[in-house]
Amino acid sequence: MLTGALNEPLIRGSLGYRNPVEFNTSHAIAILMLALVATAAGEYSREMLRKPFVIGRWMYSNGVRVPVALKIDDQGYLVRSPWVYDASSSYSRGEAVFRGECASCHTLNGYRPLVKLLAGRDAANIANFITMLHEHKPDSPYYRFMPPMVGTRQDVQDLANYLNAQVNPPRAAGSILTAHK
Ligand code: HEC
Repeated sequence: MLTGALNEPLIRGSLGYRNPVEFNTSHAIAILMLALVATAAGEYSREMLRKPFVIGRWMYSNGVRVPVALKIDDQGYLVRSPWVYDASSSYSRGEAVFRGECASCHTLNGYRPLVKLLAGRDAANIANFITMLHEHKPDSPYYRFMPPMVGTRQDVQDLANYLNAQVNPPRAAGSILTAHK
């Protein structure tokens, strides 16, 4: 028997236990919603706290290890990339950089969509943005939640070219697509 003074308020408060008949679907839904809100809020702040690291100060969320970041700036990102790409194409190199460095937190059109986040910027503006991520200065507004974009000047340019092609697709390609609709 649960008779202790400590247990009393708990038992009285637990509606479903004392009065199972009165505990209807809307009670259940209310408690479910509370649980979801609590979990979502907790998960969100945990995610934001951890950014931009997956292992605090050792590995960024995109798998780049902090002590290797400067080396990658010298050697180029793609030397270590597991993605297959066409080395003779800036677009293809840029896509491999995107997959490796950005796609752990962004997609192009779905989750944190880069096409939307970069909308309205032209090629030069996109290149400036990537350069800012590359410089990763402590006073950058993105310093706290995005890792540095690591790689050579060429990697920066390739990624910018690739993203620009998504945000500002060449006219010819656009008209072919609309002609099919
Ligand atoms: C650790 C996760 C993470 C990685 C990796 C990451 N980002 Fe982000 N990025 C974020 C978060 C979080 C935001 C804020 C999203 C929002 O406002 O919805 C953001 C915002 C942005 C924005 C919008 C900025 C603005 O002011 O509106 C752009 C553009 C962007 N990221 C580009 C990139 C590019 C390019 C890369 C790869 C080089 C990258 N991000 C890698 C987490 C990341």
